[in-house]
Amino acid sequence: MNTLLQGIKKKNLLQVENLHVAFSIHKQKLEAVRGISFTIAAGETVGLVGESGCGKTAAVQAITRLTPAEWVEGKALFDGTDLLQATPEELRKIRGREIGMVFQDPMSSLNPTMTIGKQIAEGLIYHKLASKKEALQEAIELLRLVGVPHPEIRIHQYPHELSGGMRQRVLIAIALACKPRLLIADEPTTALDVTISVQILELLKALQKKLQMSLLLITHDLHVVAAICDRVLVMYAGQIVEEGPVKEVLRQPKHPYTKMLLQALPRLDRPTVLT
Ligand SMILES: Nc1ncnc2c1ncn2[C@@H]1O[C@H](COP(=O)(O)OP(=O)(O)O)[C@@H](O)[C@H]1O
Ligand SMILES: [Mg+2]
Repeated sequence: MNTLLQGIKKKNLLQVENLHVAFSIHKQKLEAVRGISFTIAAGETVGLVGESGCGKTAAVQAITRLTPAEWVEGKALFDGTDLLQATPEELRKIRGREIGMVFQDPMSSLNPTMTIGKQIAEGLIYHKLASKKEALQEAIELLRLVGVPHPEIRIHQYPHELSGGMRQRVLIAIALACKPRLLIADEPTTALDVTISVQILELLKALQKKLQMSLLLITHDLHVVAAICDRVLVMYAGQIVEEGPVKEVLRQPKHPYTKMLLQALPRLDRPTVLT
């Protein structure tokens, strides 16, 4: 099948239209996201890249309705349901079940007083996908899946007994427990050192393929996008200034900001030409 046909056949799982997000700061309206639109197809890995403060987190927090922002406008259609209009009940069914989320800081996302086995099992029990006993068994399998050794012992441990990298693997296990169709990972490895970060990103990509889910990966690192994403959205000052297949954007960046990001990357595909 040629790529054009494949493109037509692929269904949009998430379709964001004209999303605006604004915060109220000292009675002033600060627009963090200024009308962004993008889609994510089923099974696609999309990178959302941009410098710190450009609105990446504000955008995904608004989409998942976990935002502290005072103003959110636009549409975020997930398989036809507008998340921005969804009732609390609809949201509870979708969040954790259909959309999994992994955030930057594993320590603040985990409950320090609960064993990691129970935390992984929680979603399965909540969404009635498993009994308590089955869910704990599944937690062991999930820990194995994310590369945690001796999972049958680890499920009885508490977050503070694990290293940062292990905790991030646990968070991924929690996000994947219900086999979501979309995983949103917001700078999932920023708090980790480089070697562990590479391992976790490779793991995310492998799991995305294995579970055939869509992945929205937020990062400020174009290396990461180049390594694992199909398509990239480049955000700058609250707007998407450029988007396209990773290879095209990296080969022929149009926006000055993308060009600037790229200058920091070593070119492997052709000799560097100074113009
Ligand atoms: N809770 C908040 N209250 C007020 N302003 C916020 C809040 N969260 C983010 N912002 C502002 O929104 C803008 C975008 O932030 P953010 O989405 O966190 O950026 P990124 O994730 O791209 O680094 C920044 O100017 C930031 O200061
Ligand atoms: Mg952020």
